[in-house]
Amino acid sequence: MPEVKMTVNGKPASGQIEGRTLLVEFLRETLGLTGTHVGCDTSQCGACVVHVDGKAVKSCTMFAAEAEGAEIKTIEGMAEPDGTLHPIQQAFQDHHGLQCGFCTPGMVMSAAALLAENPTPSESEVRDYLEGNLCRCTGYHNIVKAILAASGQDVSRIAAE
Ligand code: FES
Ligand code: FES
Repeated sequence: MPEVKMTVNGKPASGQIEGRTLLVEFLRETLGLTGTHVGCDTSQCGACVVHVDGKAVKSCTMFAAEAEGAEIKTIEGMAEPDGTLHPIQQAFQDHHGLQCGFCTPGMVMSAAALLAENPTPSESEVRDYLEGNLCRCTGYHNIVKAILAASGQDVSRIAAE
C-alpha cells in the first residue's frame, strides 16, 4: 500500500493507505485523532470539518492521498499544549454552544475558518457560513452566539436559549 505524508497539528504524520482511504478515516483510524467525527459520510453534516492548508474542508469528501504534503489542523490542535482552550472553544463553553457535542468539533473548525476570513461577522454571516454544519440537537442559537462572542462582539443583548 502506498504511504501518505502530511503535517497534522504541526507534527509530521504518515501512514499506509489504500487509494480509497478518506482523509477522515486516516485521521481517526490511522492517527487516532477521533475528535473529528463522522456524522453522515455523505458530505452533508459537517461533523468531519478540518482545516487543509488553512481552509475548512469536510474530511469525508477528500481522499487521504489528496492531502499528501498538506498542513492539516484538527480539533485536537486547537487548544494550547497546556490544555488552555482556544478562544472559540472557550466561547462554546461559556455560551452553551453544545448539547450532545457530536457536531461541535466541526462547528469549531468551521467557526475558526470563518473568523480567519471575516474577523467580525454579522449574525447572518455566521448563520450562512454554518450552512454546511448540522446540529441535530438544533442548538444553533447558542452556537451562533458563541461564535459572535469569540469574534469579540458584544453578545449581552442576545438571549440564551
Ligand atoms: S461526515 Fe463528513 S459531512 Fe458528515
Ligand atoms: S450539539 Fe448535538 S448535534 Fe450538535
